[in-house]
Amino acid sequence: MKVLVTGANGLLGQHLIRQLVEEGKFTIHATGKGESRLPYGTGNGVTYHQLDLTDFKKAQALVEKISPHIIIHAAAMTQPNECAADKTACWKTNVGATRVMVKGAQKAKSYFIYVSTDFVFDGAEGPYDEHAGPNPINDYGESKLLGEEIVEMSGLHWAIVRTALVYGDKVPGGRPNFVLWVKDKLQAGEPIKVVNDQYRTPTYVDDLAKGILLIVMKHAKGIYHISGKDMCTPYQLAVMIAQMTGKDERLIEPVTAETFEEPAKRPPKTGFIITKAVKELGYVPLKLEEGLKKVLHL
Ligand SMILES: NC(=O)c1ccc[n+]([C@@H]2O[C@H](COP(=O)([O-])OP(=O)(O)OC[C@H]3O[C@@H](n4cnc5c(N)ncnc54)[C@H](OP(=O)(O)O)[C@@H]3O)[C@@H](O)[C@H]2O)c1
Repeated sequence: MKVLVTGANGLLGQHLIRQLVEEGKFTIHATGKGESRLPYGTGNGVTYHQLDLTDFKKAQALVEKISPHIIIHAAAMTQPNECAADKTACWKTNVGATRVMVKGAQKAKSYFIYVSTDFVFDGAEGPYDEHAGPNPINDYGESKLLGEEIVEMSGLHWAIVRTALVYGDKVPGGRPNFVLWVKDKLQAGEPIKVVNDQYRTPTYVDDLAKGILLIVMKHAKGIYHISGKDMCTPYQLAVMIAQMTGKDERLIEPVTAETFEEPAKRPPKTGFIITKAVKELGYVPLKLEEGLKKVLHL
């Protein structure tokens, strides 16, 4: 079974490729914008293709050449502030490239899995299930929602995986995720300000990859919310990290989102109800404390 994974160099991508390799059932084509940061050479079923997906002609040609049975489209401009600063690039990457991947999938008749975000919601009434109506409040969320709509209207066999606040072991060349950022700051004894008026259901990256694998195996169709099940504020999460690593939690100052002047607004209360994924896919995420133990190597 041939699978094409975009965004393979990213936090999710690297963990997902590892799980796909371990599954042993797939011929894997991985793409990223930069050079491969995957810890694989040749001979283990992974072929890496360096490609900027906003080069639409080349992107479509690659999909048609590979003609994958499955496409997992995880590549995106993922930072809301960067999307706000460069809307054109954000739209080209998150909407244009998704359209092109879908076009390629239509020719190849691929099963299309699109990775999306809790930021498609406005955060007024979280936690959200799959029936909730999206209403993004920043460019990143809007562009990802447009990507979802392209997938839904494609006529393909498709699944959309929405996830939230992903954390996990740092991947080569990747930026530190929130959990590792807090750990490093506390380790260095640096005071940090962390918002205490936003709510999320943090997601351990290996759980997310497992959830996607379950979708692949079950050939599931539709929208799935795949996250952790425990809801907390980033401040509460930071305090948990301090307590678990024996660091001084007084270094963490709880603040409101208004403290930071950011170009992109953040939805206050998102988080997911994951009942559908649990019932239909058998998805069982780690408890937040267990996930943190893995990442903090405790
Ligand atoms: N992380 C989270 O908290 C979170 C939360 C909700 C949803 N998501 C969604 O989950 C998915 C994966 O996120 P992630 O955290 O793994 O993101 P990430 O670490 O930022 O990785 C995204 C990857 O996309 C690739 N990419 C960006 N622009 C590209 C382009 N023009 N052409 C080709 N590749 C391009 C990058 O490749 P290079 O590294 O080679 O440049 C990068 O490795 C995204 O769709 C995101 O929207 C993430």
